[in-house]
Amino acid sequence: MRTWRLDCARQTLVLTSDGDRLPEVVYWGRPLPAGEDLQTVARAYAIDVTGGMLDRNPALSICPEASDSFPGQPGLVVRDGQGVVLMPRLRFVDAEEGSALVLHFADADLGLRYMARLAVDPDTHMITSSARLETDDPVRLDWLAAPVFPAPHLSDEMIDVAGRWCGEFQLNRTPWSAGIRFRENRTGRTGHEHFPGLIVPGREATNTQGQAVAFHYGWSGGHRMVAEELPDGRRQVQFGHAGTTDAATGTVFETATLYATYSASGLNGCATAFQRHLRDRTVSFPDAARLRPVHYNCWEAVYFDHDLPTLKDIATRAAALGAERFVLDDGWFKGRTDDRRALADWVVDETKYPDGLGPLIDHVHAEAMSFGLWFEPEMVNTESDVYRAHPDWALGAADQIPGRQQLALDMSRPDVRDYLFSRIDAILRDYAIDYIKWDHNRVLPAPDAAQTRGTYALLDRLRAAHPGVEIESCASGGGRIDFGILQRTHRVWLSDSNDALERLNMQHNAALFLPACVTGSHVGPRRCHTSGRTHDITFRAWVAAQRHMGFEMDPRELTEHEASVLRDVTAWWKTNRAWMMQADILRLDSADPACIAEQQLARDGARFVVFAGKAAASEQIAPRPLRLTELVPDAYYQIDLVNRADAPDLSRGSPALKEGVLTVSGTYLMQHGVTLPWTFPDRIWVIEGQRI
Ligand code: GLA
Repeated sequence: MRTWRLDCARQTLVLTSDGDRLPEVVYWGRPLPAGEDLQTVARAYAIDVTGGMLDRNPALSICPEASDSFPGQPGLVVRDGQGVVLMPRLRFVDAEEGSALVLHFADADLGLRYMARLAVDPDTHMITSSARLETDDPVRLDWLAAPVFPAPHLSDEMIDVAGRWCGEFQLNRTPWSAGIRFRENRTGRTGHEHFPGLIVPGREATNTQGQAVAFHYGWSGGHRMVAEELPDGRRQVQFGHAGTTDAATGTVFETATLYATYSASGLNGCATAFQRHLRDRTVSFPDAARLRPVHYNCWEAVYFDHDLPTLKDIATRAAALGAERFVLDDGWFKGRTDDRRALADWVVDETKYPDGLGPLIDHVHAEAMSFGLWFEPEMVNTESDVYRAHPDWALGAADQIPGRQQLALDMSRPDVRDYLFSRIDAILRDYAIDYIKWDHNRVLPAPDAAQTRGTYALLDRLRAAHPGVEIESCASGGGRIDFGILQRTHRVWLSDSNDALERLNMQHNAALFLPACVTGSHVGPRRCHTSGRTHDITFRAWVAAQRHMGFEMDPRELTEHEASVLRDVTAWWKTNRAWMMQADILRLDSADPACIAEQQLARDGARFVVFAGKAAASEQIAPRPLRLTELVPDAYYQIDLVNRADAPDLSRGSPALKEGVLTVSGTYLMQHGVTLPWTFPDRIWVIEGQRI
C-alpha cells in the first residue's frame, strides 16, 4: 500500500492507495500525530461488506473509476475520437513529493495519463489541487473532476451559494440525503447564480465554532459541483469545469484549481483561510505597499450622459469627500449614447470629449486622484463599426437571444484578442490610466472553456504590457467572482446593488470567501436606483466602510450634513485601512437574527472593529448581547463605540458603551458579549477594540 500525507498546523490529509490503484483520502481533519501509522489508518478506514454489496468496496478515490464498479459519479468521463466511451483503469506510475505532492497514473492500453497535484499552504491552511489528463490520441472530454474529496459523515447539510443580479451571495442549505446535489453552471461565466463554492458544516457548527470543510473552484467559465451520498453512506465532493465545455477533441485537459480547507473553528476558520489565501497568494497587486485608494465611480451619477464640465465638478466634489481614484464608467467611447450600441468600438467619443480624455484626466490628477476607465472587452453590439466589419467575430448563432442588446466576441480567436489588445493598449498608452473596470454584462450563448482561456490570455497579455494597472472584475455586479479571475484582477464589483441593507447581508455572506481588500463597496445615492429604498447617510457610509470603500452617488445631491458624515467616515476608513484591509473578517453568531454582525480582527490580534448592522426591527425590545470571537481570553481590551453620536433619541437609557470606553477581558467579550444601545433598523453600530 502507498501512503502520503499533507500537513499544516490546522489539518492533516492522508491519501492511501491499494496497490497500484488511485489513492483515496482516508483522513482529513485535525492534525494527526507525526507518528500515526498510515497503513493502519488506511486499514481502519475500510468499511464492511454485507448482503447486496460487492465483495469489496470500490475506492472513493481522487478520481473514482467506473471501471472499478464505483457506485457513484466517476471522476473522469472521456470518449475516443469516434465518440466511444472509454473505461480508464488508471495505475500508478510515479509520485513526486516536494512542496507539492504530484501523482502520476496511466492507462497504458488506452494511452491515457492522469496527473493530480495537491499542496497545502502552511500559512493560509489552504489545500490547492488540480488534475490533468494527457492522451496519445485526441479524445473528447465530457468530465474531469479536480481531485475528489470525501465529505464528513457527521454533517446534516451543505451550504452552497446562489444569487441573482443585485442579489449576489445567497446561501442555500440543503440536507444531505441519498443521491446527488448537482449544480452546473452553463452560463459560460462564473455567474451571479452559481458562485463555485461549497461549505460542509459539521453538525451544530456555527460561524464561530464546530468543524467544517469548504471548497472553491477557481474558474470563470462555469463549473459543475457534485455532492453525492453513496448507497454505502460515503460522501464525495467533485468540482470541475461545467461538463462538455471543451467542445473540440484534444490531447491535454486540465482542471482549474480546487481550493479546499478544514476548520475546527467554525465557518470562520474556512472563511479566513479563503480570505488569506486570496489576499496573500492569489491576487498580485502592482504595488503591494500601496494602500487601497478610496474610489469614486460616476455610473450612478451620470450614466451615459457624459459632459466634461459636469464630470469635472463631480470629480472636485468627490475629491473633497476623500476620493483618491476617479473611475469613468460606461459611456465614454464612440457613439455610446445608450446600452444598444458601440460596444467593441474602443475609441474616445469625439462629441462628448472633443479634446480626448486628457482634459478630464488632467483635472482628476489636479484633484490628487488617479484615473480609471470602464471597458467591456468581450462584448460587441451589432450597432458598432467592429460588428459591421467583422460579423464573424461574434460568438453563437445569428438568431441567438441577445443579452443587454449585445453579443459576446469569440475570445478563442487570436485576431479578436489582437484587436482588443491593440485598442485597450492604445488607450492605456495614450493616457495616464491606472485602473480598468472590466465588465461582462451577458451570459454566453453556450458554455465554452476556450472562451475563458481566451479572456485569461488577453488579461495576461495586457497585464504584462501594463503591470502598473489594476483591474476590477465586474459582470453586471458580481457575475464574475472567483479565484481564477482574481489571479488576474485586483477587485470585484460585488453587486450592482448599492442598497446598504442588501449590501450588509451580501458582504456578510461573501466574506465566507472574500477578504475586504478586494471587495468593492460604494456609498450609493440617497434613493437606491435598484431597490428604490432610501437610507440614512450614516448607514450607507458605514456599510461601504466595511470593505474597499468608494462613492457612486452624484455628490451634488448631498446635503452639508450628508457630506460631513461621508468625510468623517472616509477619514476614519483611511486611518484604519492599513490594518483593516489585511484583517480577518469573522462572522459573529448573533443571538438576534435582526443583527448581522462581523468582527474584523487585525492579523496580530491587537485590534479589531465590530460592525453590528440592524437589518430589521428585532422581535424583542432591547438588543441582545453580541458575543465576540477569537480574542485572547486573559487579555484586556478597551472597547469604544465609534459612532455613538448616531444613537437615536429613542435610545433613552445609558448602556455603558453609549457613555464611554470600557475595559474588559477577552473572556468577558467572548462569553457574555457586548451590550449595544438600541437603534433603528437600517442602522449600524461600529465598535473599535484595542488590546491593552
Ligand atoms: C454593468 C455594471 C455597472 C455599470 C454598467 C455600465 O451593469 O455592473 O456597474 O458599469 O454595467 O453599463
